[in-house]
Amino acid sequence: MEIVIVPDSAAGARVAARLIARVVTAKPTAVLGLATGSSPLGTYAELAEQATSGTTDFSAASGFALDEYVGIPAEHPQSYAAVIDREVTRRLGMDPARVHVPDGRATEIPAACDAYEAAIRASGGVDIQILGIGANGHIGFNEPSSSLSSRTRIKTLTPRTRADNARFFDSLDDVPTHCLTQGLGTIMDARRIVLVAQGSAKAAAVAAAVEGPVSAMCPASVLQFHPHATVVVDEAAAADLTLTDYYRHTYDNKPDWQI
Ligand code: GLP
Repeated sequence: MEIVIVPDSAAGARVAARLIARVVTAKPTAVLGLATGSSPLGTYAELAEQATSGTTDFSAASGFALDEYVGIPAEHPQSYAAVIDREVTRRLGMDPARVHVPDGRATEIPAACDAYEAAIRASGGVDIQILGIGANGHIGFNEPSSSLSSRTRIKTLTPRTRADNARFFDSLDDVPTHCLTQGLGTIMDARRIVLVAQGSAKAAAVAAAVEGPVSAMCPASVLQFHPHATVVVDEAAAADLTLTDYYRHTYDNKPDWQI
């Protein structure tokens, strides 16, 4: 894994946006894996600026969201369909017909999950997957104990994740209990992965993911098996890592084309 430690979240957003923009510039029809949550918002803002200034054109790119709540309407402001539309599709000038979110309202959930997997395959696969990380080490909504080779499916949210996400809802009771999420196996199929994390609340999860044993108890640790995963963390999120001198040395000496 490439570990990039940056002074603050703004610097992290610039690094992640540069990686993503480079993929889209090289391949305008690139398929982007899209994460929700607050972690990638700065990255999306950077990409939106590039779209507005004409530096990068996202109009031919496609997108696949990682996950969606079950049981809230798509037009609910906190449905991930609404969040992706608001924060990514519109701001980056993507074609809404090419941006996909799992259908959390499907009556046949397993069929909807299979269809989502088929759509990702039919697109040619994800070129670059953007990830945040939950305080419990989840990626997408793959909670601890998720199979490391799981595919898109329904999951029950842990009490901790529901509490963490309650800030987006009027009350804890309003946070859905279930979700659809790409599996860890689905995420691992992406050709390239960039995970962004900021703040001390993520420090333990980042350390477990990067330096801990690969374990279903820290789902993000599966990324240690990915051949091209970059982890962009600010100082606070890097606080529990032990090899920080090495990571800094590696990054500081890396030519621009390598990161
Ligand atoms: C959310 C999402 C994840 C996200 C994580 C962290 O619930 N399902 O994709 O990475 O939890 O969220 P945040 O970035 O807001 O801390």
